[in-house]
Amino acid sequence: MSNEQIQQKVEALLAQMTLEEKAAQMVQVPYTVAGREESLRWARLGAGSFLHVLGDDAREVQQTALKESRLGIPVIFGIDAIHGHGLNQDAAIFPSQLACACSWDPAVAEEMGRVTAREVATDGLHWTFSPVCCLGRDTRWGRIDETFGEDPYLSGEMTYGIVRGYQGDSLDAPDSILACAKHYIGYGEAVGARDAVDTQMTYRKMKEVFVPPFQRAVDAGCATFMTAYGSIDGTPFTADPKTMKTILRDEMGFDGFVVTDWNNCQSLLTQQFVAADIGEASILSAEAGNDMMMTTLDFYDAAIRAVREGRLDEKVLDDAVRHILTVKFRMDLFGKPEKAGIPGCIGCEEHRQAAYRAGQRSITLLKNNGALPLRDVKKVAVIGQNADDIQSQYGDWTYLTHPNSETARPPRRPYVTVKEGFEQLCEAHGAQCVYHHGCAVRPLPPEVIAMIEGPVLADPVAENIRQQSMRRMPPRDDIPGAVAAAKDADAIVLVVGDTIDQHGEYKDRGNLDLSGEQMALYRALRALNIPLTVVLVSSKPLCIGEIAETADAVIVAFNGGQYGGLAVAEAAFGVFNPSGRLPITFPAHSGQLPVYYNSLPGWHGGRYMDLPRTPVYAFGEGMGYAPFSYANLVFDAAALTASVDVTNAGDVPGTEVVQVYMHDLVASVIRPVKQLIAFTRVDLAPGETKTVTFRLRREDFSLVNREEKRIVEPGEFDLFIGHSSRDEDLLRTRFAL
Ligand code: NOJ
Repeated sequence: MSNEQIQQKVEALLAQMTLEEKAAQMVQVPYTVAGREESLRWARLGAGSFLHVLGDDAREVQQTALKESRLGIPVIFGIDAIHGHGLNQDAAIFPSQLACACSWDPAVAEEMGRVTAREVATDGLHWTFSPVCCLGRDTRWGRIDETFGEDPYLSGEMTYGIVRGYQGDSLDAPDSILACAKHYIGYGEAVGARDAVDTQMTYRKMKEVFVPPFQRAVDAGCATFMTAYGSIDGTPFTADPKTMKTILRDEMGFDGFVVTDWNNCQSLLTQQFVAADIGEASILSAEAGNDMMMTTLDFYDAAIRAVREGRLDEKVLDDAVRHILTVKFRMDLFGKPEKAGIPGCIGCEEHRQAAYRAGQRSITLLKNNGALPLRDVKKVAVIGQNADDIQSQYGDWTYLTHPNSETARPPRRPYVTVKEGFEQLCEAHGAQCVYHHGCAVRPLPPEVIAMIEGPVLADPVAENIRQQSMRRMPPRDDIPGAVAAAKDADAIVLVVGDTIDQHGEYKDRGNLDLSGEQMALYRALRALNIPLTVVLVSSKPLCIGEIAETADAVIVAFNGGQYGGLAVAEAAFGVFNPSGRLPITFPAHSGQLPVYYNSLPGWHGGRYMDLPRTPVYAFGEGMGYAPFSYANLVFDAAALTASVDVTNAGDVPGTEVVQVYMHDLVASVIRPVKQLIAFTRVDLAPGETKTVTFRLRREDFSLVNREEKRIVEPGEFDLFIGHSSRDEDLLRTRFAL
């Protein structure tokens, strides 16, 4: 259907809708909270969308909307399928967005999106609340794992890939779903990384740093946007027409619909206190440009009343409904209310293989003094709770972690933990593998343990919680046991990290040191003087300065998905040559935060006097089993082409991620010390040299000026090309534009 035909259909339908039906179309009902009966009532009223409902329950809602609502407008079902269709127990589970970003490969994101779309669609659903385009710059924030890291450009390229993957070539294909760029905007930039509070943004800064990844979502045709909880200079984004209309629609060119985040409309009165009642909150939200209100069911009555009382123009509702119906027609929801997907594809072999490949691509080797790859080992000791904890390996937003799932639900095979990966690889290499948990990643306080292990409780709810907690009890610390298990090994692999209780919404951390006795465990194992590799299975960079200095090898796996553990073991044994690069900085200390490579200059002293100047690992760092060298940087300023010779100086094939940064020497606003503007992956055989050429664009050197306009200012620039964001890894040339 052409755009014109769609618009005609939208207008014809809108003309038939009553005020009540328009208000209902703007409501998104949380099935798990509302329950079945209430959800069906909303379907009859003509609610526009439901979230968190799967399978037959979703089908029943859809049939009710089609047959029992006056106009039979189909509903859209949304779900948080953010690294695979993870809330479905059988789905393929991919690495988290952060882990996926270690690949520096938009094709990996696209494949993850494609597979997820097929599985979500096969469940009859239409829409995923993904990707997160927020930047992870202050890693105390609980949701760092959901981001593509700290950089606007890398995040934008990964965003572009995943949105293309979700939406495919056409929204009406049976296996395409709607993407949702979230949380627009600045959610990761809240003061002190405190989930959902006010941001330290101005509109200029918003446009320069935070809009770009969202712009890439728009460029990829992203059909929906979700707003952020936070605020800008005291104005909640939910109530800010400049953010939602001027910037998003007029400047960025977005033409889909906007959904609020969870109860944002209600929060205007219950958390942000800029509305005295739900009527005011509803008027503010609707007028600002929120087309659909997630979970704020009271919006319905309040909006109807506000229109009747003359406090809200019905045209505001018309616009919102227009946006929603346009997307519904674009995806041919009226012709095909239920997505067909590809029957039998959920968790199929092909999809699992894709998750496995993504897991391999996310493995990032950060240090290796020759301990890896493992060779001629007779016994490998794998130590650490996270080496055998599938919940930590999966990370957030899977059926094991989502608050609405039963926490006691057993993990469904197939998956391979790090321990199991080493068992497989050791067997293949004729070596013995021993495992010991060593200590709890996050031990419980003694009084909680006493309660959990105590007598049966009279209150059935409390007893249920006790029983669930019992099943999820962290193991007891036993460092001597781990040392005994490891003492005659040829290699030790210690897995450290965090658990699902230490990240996610509502779970910001002030201290990113390894929790519990993990450092004591490390030191005890280090004292054995056996080659020691440390693996991080975590949601974010943790403070591992001492480990970085004294371990023999360091691998970052983050939340690697169902085969993340196998990928770690294969990388350690050299089955493949790891090629991940950090999309995010590892701080030297929690007090160093926020720390990111593209900071603004001007800090007197450039450091906290009691902390190191540099982070432990910088953005872009990562290595494989072959070193790369760079030579002959040539830049043609007129054609804006840059080329460099990259050589694999090792004896195994390897993949280098060639990174291009720029710095604007003098500008009307302060520019970052360095900004990534391009990158590419290059496969190189041992000894091979390739000339890598980048075609840059003038806008790669642009800035957002004080008038909030993106422009290119003439002047001198530095161009850097090399292996990571560290100065010592980069060749440099200066030119005038
Ligand atoms: C709140 C979260 O902030 C958002 O990311 C998610 O998509 C919605 N809840 C729906 O679950």
